[in-house]
Amino acid sequence: MPLHHAPTPVPCAQRRWANPVTLANGRAAQEFNARRFHDLRTSSTPDPLKYSTREQYQFVTATKEFMAFGYGRHACPGRFFAANEIKLILSRLLLEYDLRMPDGLTERYPNMVMGIDALPDPTKELMLKRVST
Ligand code: HEM
Repeated sequence: MPLHHAPTPVPCAQRRWANPVTLANGRAAQEFNARRFHDLRTSSTPDPLKYSTREQYQFVTATKEFMAFGYGRHACPGRFFAANEIKLILSRLLLEYDLRMPDGLTERYPNMVMGIDALPDPTKELMLKRVST
């Protein structure tokens, strides 16, 4: 039976670093690099998968290094649609709105942490002002 159809909770190992760890690409495992896929596609960082073409590092690519959309035969079929929706919404937000934190706040809100997931807290407020149509 495929793992994702398992009727009982799937045991899941979580790892924590007690000491700093340096990955094969030279980066510290604890360091978040929001441009990591950009770096792979522009060859400014070593390619751990040695793909024949770096264009394979797309937002929708399901690899063992990036499993937000699952992996293998049952990788999310909606990911192409979802990726375009996300980009459309984000680009309209950036182009058509000014965004800021409510008065007095200068730091982002703490994430909500649920198991191995960390996500923005949807109960918190951001301020948006439409600047163009
Ligand atoms: C950011 C948005 C989304 C994320 C992060 C996401 C993530 C996932 C993940 C992790 C799986 C499990 C894959 C696996 O078992 O290996 C999955 C499966 C699936 N997703 Fe998505 N998904 C998203 C959006 C969508 C959308 C928009 C649709 C449909 C329009 C969709 C339809 C499906 C279907 C039908 C499956 C089951 C595929 C199968 O079992 O063969 N998903 N998704």
